[in-house]
Amino acid sequence: MTKQISVFLFFLIGIALTVQPLQAEEVQSLRGNLGLEAASEPPTVNRVITDDRPMTRDFVNQPPLIPHKIEGYQLDKNFNKCLSCHSWANYQKARATKIPPTHFKDRDGNERANLSANRYFCTQCHVPQQDVKPLIGNSFEPVKALR
Ligand code: HEC
Ligand code: HEC
Repeated sequence: MTKQISVFLFFLIGIALTVQPLQAEEVQSLRGNLGLEAASEPPTVNRVITDDRPMTRDFVNQPPLIPHKIEGYQLDKNFNKCLSCHSWANYQKARATKIPPTHFKDRDGNERANLSANRYFCTQCHVPQQDVKPLIGNSFEPVKALR
């Protein structure tokens, strides 16, 4: 009896090992099925959801999605285009949301007078959302408090 069970288990493991590589090939990243060293064209960004109204958040402390296009916005060590609308000095004129107080705290927990350096590159955390099919189906639902 135990022998039969172990033969059956080997059989199952065998199936799992052959099926997995097949599935792994069906799912592709946006740049395609390329090795890290291979050059690729950047994916086209042509279906950005851009209705200028903040989108509902899916979990507490989610960096909100960007509800507008950011194509061509300069964001490097010389200039931060996002701050021209989202800084405390400019948000009212631009009718944009001001950056929250958390963004002034540095990594040691000190409140800074200016934007903390670790929040400078906004797109590390904030991204515009695109109207595309999910790479992998899922049944994710936002927490109740945010629905
Ligand atoms: C020309 C002005 C302008 C620029 C530049 C700009 N934004 Fe915005 N942003 C807005 C406005 C207006 C809103 C919508 C505010 C509203 O309707 O409440 C907004 C909304 C947002 C929100 C949503 C806030 C929320 O509460 O959900 C995020 C996140 C955001 N922008 C990030 C960025 C980032 C990152 C950049 C730079 C890559 C950027 N924005 C550049 C004007 C701008
Ligand atoms: C390290 C990740 C990170 C970076 C970098 C970052 N943010 Fe955020 N941002 C968040 C998170 C998380 C939240 C939501 C929680 C909070 O308010 O702190 C948020 C919230 C916001 C909000 C909504 C504020 C509100 O009142 O609802 C705006 C607007 C925003 N960020 C703009 C920016 C801009 C502009 C930059 C670049 C100058 C930036 N963020 C950089 C993580 C980040």
